[in-house]
Amino acid sequence: MESADFHSHLALLDWQIELGATEAIMDAPVNRYDVPAVVEKPKAAAAPPVPINTPRVQEDPVAVAKERAAAAQNLDELRAAMVAFEHCALKKGARNLVFCDGVPGARVMIVGEAPDRDEDREGQPFVGRAGQLLDKMLGAVDMGRNHAEAPVYITNVLPWRPPQSRDPKPEEIAMMKPFLMRHIELAAPEVIVILGNWSCQALLGKRGISRLRGQWEEVAGRPALPMFHPTYLLRSPEFKREAWTDLLALKARLGNG
Ligand code: URA
Repeated sequence: MESADFHSHLALLDWQIELGATEAIMDAPVNRYDVPAVVEKPKAAAAPPVPINTPRVQEDPVAVAKERAAAAQNLDELRAAMVAFEHCALKKGARNLVFCDGVPGARVMIVGEAPDRDEDREGQPFVGRAGQLLDKMLGAVDMGRNHAEAPVYITNVLPWRPPQSRDPKPEEIAMMKPFLMRHIELAAPEVIVILGNWSCQALLGKRGISRLRGQWEEVAGRPALPMFHPTYLLRSPEFKREAWTDLLALKARLGNG
């Protein structure tokens, strides 16, 4: 099925459920303006056969994610485990898994939210307009995804683009969080930069980026700095001053080491 079809069919079903059409009573719809005086009662649908001795075990996606993430011994294995993870519906609608860019093992790991259209097409994080701004911001403090002396490593909370780049859902974040935490362990950065509200939600369990930004937190035993997301800065350039302050704080934290 085409990915766009999948999501538009899902949206149509959601819409019907919102209207109250939560039960399928007959196979074909009935025009209620055109019913004869006496309507034959529909026969009750036959109950599906119950398989004997084959209980259907519903896998818990979060438990599966935890198990697969823990089993990955390096970043290649982690990427492969995410490629093989079938429990997140976002995968069906996305063109590519977006795993990382930059230098694994860099002192700084940047965690964005989710791929947008350009990232989905290219399979790399932050390659669209927000990514160009992120590159400029990093360049201003002599860092960059491929900088020779001060490289950074970049990933996202979600590896697949949500349809129409909508906000991530809590269950999507919960499902993919074990992979993100293992990603942090395996990349082993000294410092984490958390971009935007949804990344704060995933890593700190709270939102409110205007309040959180610039305040050092701890994630997986490492110092973590929430910052405004570059997409937000594109819409509200007046907050670039705060972003600059935060970049300087990051630079100072890294010192010369
Ligand atoms: N926004 C993000 O959070 N991540 C990307 O990779 C691109 C845009």
